[in-house]
Formats: sequence, C-alpha cells, structure tokens
Amino acid sequence: MNARLEALLDEIGARPGCPSDLLQAMRHALLGGGKRLRPLLVLAAAGACGGGVDEALDAACCVEMVHAYSLIHDDLPAMDDDDFRRGAPACHRAFGEALAILAGDALLTHAFERLARAVPPPLAAEAVEILGVAAGASGMVGGQADDVRSDGAGFDARQIESIHRRKTACLMRASLELGALVAGGTPSQRAALACYGEELGRAFQIADDLLAHAGDEDALGRPAGSDRDQGRHTHPALLGPADSLRRALELLDRALDAISDLGPEAGPLRALVELVRERAVRARP
Ligand code: IPE
Ligand code: IPE
Ligand code: MG
Ligand code: MG
Repeated sequence: MNARLEALLDEIGARPGCPSDLLQAMRHALLGGGKRLRPLLVLAAAGACGGGVDEALDAACCVEMVHAYSLIHDDLPAMDDDDFRRGAPACHRAFGEALAILAGDALLTHAFERLARAVPPPLAAEAVEILGVAAGASGMVGGQADDVRSDGAGFDARQIESIHRRKTACLMRASLELGALVAGGTPSQRAALACYGEELGRAFQIADDLLAHAGDEDALGRPAGSDRDQGRHTHPALLGPADSLRRALELLDRALDAISDLGPEAGPLRALVELVRERAVRARP
C-alpha cells in the first residue's frame, strides 16, 4: 500500500509553465520521507467502511500534499524557524524562503485541483469542502495562527487543546472523513471515524510535543530544543510531561472507543492508535 502511495506522490512532475526549481522545491517537501500518517488514515477509513485502496488513493495523496505545504510554512523563519525537517534541510533552507512559500502555495492548490478531478462528481464538492474547512481559517491555519502568537503567556490547557484540535486534529479528522466519503460509509460510520480522527490527532500533537520536550531528535526528524521549543506554550511545558502523557493516552483510548462498533475492517485504524501510543510512550519522562 505504501509503495503505491509513494508512486502516486512521485507522479507530481513537470507541467507547462511550472519552473523547474519550483517543482524541485515541491518534490523536496512532498517526497522527502515522512510517516504518511494522514494518507494511511484515508486508506484505513475507506477500508473500515468496506471500500478499497483504489478509490481512496487519490484523496490520500491530496491530504498529504496539504500536509507537506503546512510543514514548509511551519518551518519558515516567520513561523517556527526550523532549519531541518525529516532529517534534511527544511524547504526554505534548500531553496530559499520565496520559493519555499510558493512551493507550499503550489502544493496546496494542486491538492484541491486533484481532489476535484479524482473524486467521482457526485462526491467531489463534498470532498473539496471537507478538505477546505479542515485546512482553512477555522481549522489548521487558524490553529497555526494562534500557535505562533509570540509569547503564549497566559495560555491555559483548554486554549492549548483548542490549538491542537485546529492545527493538527482537523486535518487528521478530514483524512478519516474523506476515506469514509469515497468508500460510501454510512452516517454512523462517518461520525465514528470523524470522532476517532479528532481524538487521534489531538493525542498525536501531544506526543509530538512530548518528543520535542524529551529531546528525541530521531523521532522528530528535526533538532529539538530550537528556539521555538523554549518557553513554548506546549502541553508538557504547561502541565509537565507526566500529565501530558496521561492526557495523550486518554485521548487514544477515546479514539479506540469511537470505532468500537466498526468490526475487524477497522484493524488498521486500531494499529495506527498503537503507533501513536508508542510514540507518546517513547518520550516517557
Ligand atoms: C508533523 O507531522 C507535524 C505535526 C502535526 C506534529 P508528522 O509527524 O506526521 O510529519 P511527517 O509527515 O511524518 O514528517
Ligand atoms: C505543526 O505543528 C502543525 C502544522 C504544521 C499544521 P508543530 O510545529 O508542533 O510540528 P513540528 O514539530 O514542527 O513537526
Ligand atoms: Mg508549529
Ligand atoms: Mg514546527
């Protein structure tokens, strides 16, 4: 499954009018490794609804393109100012800031163009809406805007969790919703999967913050302890790593509960919960 996903992502190639350095920057961000968690969630959600990989693969790629764009912009000096991503120079370090910003723009727009074309017409509008709402101002971009606010002083746990929900969980939830949509999931399957995606996404972000807090650079793929990590309003910085881990594990249990009615076809989704659990526990204080 992974090989087919990588092959499809790798198909992003030269198009008339696309400068070659822009294309290289896009490919640097999209193809430079990554756990591919969001596309795997799309495929696993489709499978949980009785669908196949074929019908969900394009939507899976589109979500990964949006994710890749978000990471390019997240690493920029004006945002988290991180020089490395996935063990390699961040896009702006490899191609310069202007091209990196534009590569992000191009990946984002390409994702919607592709989604509109790849999903069958009766479902395409809803698919585009799901991804647009999740990625936009009340979802990922809104969460990012609150996250980068300079000092974060006065943030409480509720506000941090609201940021996590938007900057990270919205796109994961959308991954599940898209997989369920293209596979023709029932309303109750779709609701269960959306809930799973949200809880998993929230736990995932806490795990990421725990790994940064613990200085686990291998798991992060970027240096921990960069300026952005210091004094940030992250979960472990506010509540301490032990309480953060407890919270992540609680959210993961809620993710499993959400899909308890789904049967053996949801096995891969249960396995993905365990992956995130291992990630969180790896950073155990
Ligand atoms: C990193 O996401 C950004 C967060 C939401 C924490 P991933 O850890 O899924 O990044 P890749 O795609 O595997 O590099
Ligand atoms: C990334 O959050 C969230 C998005 C890119 C939308 P972080 O800034 O916490 O993630 P990393 O640690 O840089 O991957
Ligand atoms: Mg960030
Ligand atoms: Mg970051």
